[in-house]
Amino acid sequence: MNQIKPSQCPMHDNVDRRKSAKIAMANTHPDEGAHWVKSAELAKKILRSKNSLQAGAGAEFVHFDNPEHMSVFFLDGEEHANKKRKTQRFLSPKAVSDQHFKIMNQASRQLLDRFQKAGTAKLEDLSFELAVEVVSDILGLTNSDQFARANRIRRLMEETIVRPKEGVAGFFQKIWQGALVGQFFLMDVRPAMKARKKAPKNDALSFYIEEGYPIKSIIIECMTYGTAGMMTTREFIIMVAWYLFEDEALRERFLQGDIKDQLAILMEILRLEPVAAMVHRRLNEKLEGFDGKTMPSGELYGIDIRAANVDEELVGECPFALDPDRAKRVNNLGRYLSFSDGVHSCPGWLVALHETRIFLELLFKVPGVKLEREPDISWHQLVGGYELRNAIITCDTSE
Ligand code: HEM
Repeated sequence: MNQIKPSQCPMHDNVDRRKSAKIAMANTHPDEGAHWVKSAELAKKILRSKNSLQAGAGAEFVHFDNPEHMSVFFLDGEEHANKKRKTQRFLSPKAVSDQHFKIMNQASRQLLDRFQKAGTAKLEDLSFELAVEVVSDILGLTNSDQFARANRIRRLMEETIVRPKEGVAGFFQKIWQGALVGQFFLMDVRPAMKARKKAPKNDALSFYIEEGYPIKSIIIECMTYGTAGMMTTREFIIMVAWYLFEDEALRERFLQGDIKDQLAILMEILRLEPVAAMVHRRLNEKLEGFDGKTMPSGELYGIDIRAANVDEELVGECPFALDPDRAKRVNNLGRYLSFSDGVHSCPGWLVALHETRIFLELLFKVPGVKLEREPDISWHQLVGGYELRNAIITCDTSE
């Protein structure tokens, strides 16, 4: 299964045990006309260049008059920096520990209480509800029923992140999508805005209102952070849980470890099983060393996060071995390319890691907790990443 031939490893067997390897290999490829970048060094060079432009998710075909009305993902240069800076403060390390730890703990306990009462749950339901709760709290979407909100957001994502249909079907698809966005606005965004106009809080929505963001921009921000932060974290939590259920020694280390060690374990799993497989950039400068050639300016590149994350140049020897001490050894934070790199890299990475850490620590302390059924793996073509479904967990019931 190894895509890249590793060197002989003295400490580990270095067998490729990545759960998503097979499905990713069948589905990961760059967009039409893009060169496939597998080397971590070139990937970082492209992503960090000030002459590279976002080209993923159809970014090059998205047109807008007003950058305020556009998601941060699709912007570049000054416009991107301005918009990203404004929301960054809600995702900083200090905001995560001072503010967001509380909701991560609270929401995890609430979900796990429900799990203990029922004695069974689908892991993806728990992980999605947790991700929705945490991102909703950061944004300030807290004035609607939690369960109904999670369902509306799930539906919104399922129906809007799809390939556009042609002709009459396309017409009805657009109307349906518009209706779902309208419902999200009326049921979730509007009541939250109303409450914050009366009494502002320390959240993104209060800030958008204070800054005079138009309603369209506010909805776009909520949807951007929603999709980026909820879909990814849902899968990540399930993947980590799967590894920890399977590997007793790793689970023990996770449960006994301090925060730093727990994060090292999570990031090492994410290195092997990155939720986002590929990102795209157009590079408006020459690129040396691609397949031994110098590429002209203006080329499109598909950056293979999965390949870069097992490139020995970046991650050291035995790239397929799960080794939480690796990052320390190779002097990396442990993020590698899992959250991308450069100006478009993920601003929510600490949120994702800590909510996963907090939830799983509590989950593994639930008496009698077991993975009753392993997840099925499928592939989300538009997001370009794996999805884990139908993982059933059980435990001793509390009533
Ligand atoms: C395990 C969970 C997550 C993973 C694997 C992940 C991964 C990524 C990756 C790879 C990108 C870069 C896309 C690119 O370079 O083109 C990205 C961007 C982004 N992520 Fe995350 N993410 C996660 C969780 C989150 C969370 C929790 C939030 C919000 C609270 C978030 C918000 C965003 C936003 C807004 C962007 C766009 C940034 C920009 O274009 O400047 N993500 N994410």
